[in-house]
Amino acid sequence: MSQKNIALIGFMGSGKSLVSKKLASTLKCEAISTDEWIERREGRSIRRIFEESGEPYFREQETQAVREVAGKESVVIDCGGGVVLNPRNIKELRKKGVIVFLAASPETVYQRIKDKKNRPLLKTVDPQAKIRQLMEERKSLYAQADYTIATDKKSVRQICAEIIQLLTDE
Ligand code: S3P
Repeated sequence: MSQKNIALIGFMGSGKSLVSKKLASTLKCEAISTDEWIERREGRSIRRIFEESGEPYFREQETQAVREVAGKESVVIDCGGGVVLNPRNIKELRKKGVIVFLAASPETVYQRIKDKKNRPLLKTVDPQAKIRQLMEERKSLYAQADYTIATDKKSVRQICAEIIQLLTDE
């Protein structure tokens, strides 16, 4: 079984947070969320960072967080959905890790996030259209992952088992 870091990428609501926690507890290692890393450093929520400092500032913090977290050993990294926007992030994550894309349909994403208020990019009049648009824009970026796992209608347990199987076969 690989001792590399495991970086989970994918759209908001694709299950990265729950999967990273379960995966880390199964593999007896640490799960680190880049969003939480940023929130701790900044002492404010992602929503407030977007509101007060704007997206470009958030992206700079995200790149710094990725650099720091990706330098660790044997951790599971729960990456913010937009981490793929900066090619440097992918490079960093790849240095010591394998990148797994958790794919979800726009419908699944919408169902998972619709009652949550913590996704500033989806605070629009038509969040479903925004999900489709951002997903389309990012499709080729998520495709840079080493592995893709479809997550629609699958349990967290099932997704973890698939990831472990993939990495065992590596
Ligand atoms: C974002 C995804 C969010 C968070 C921020 C921006 C994105 O993370 O980093 O709101 O650009 O897709 P999650 O994917 O963990 O929700």
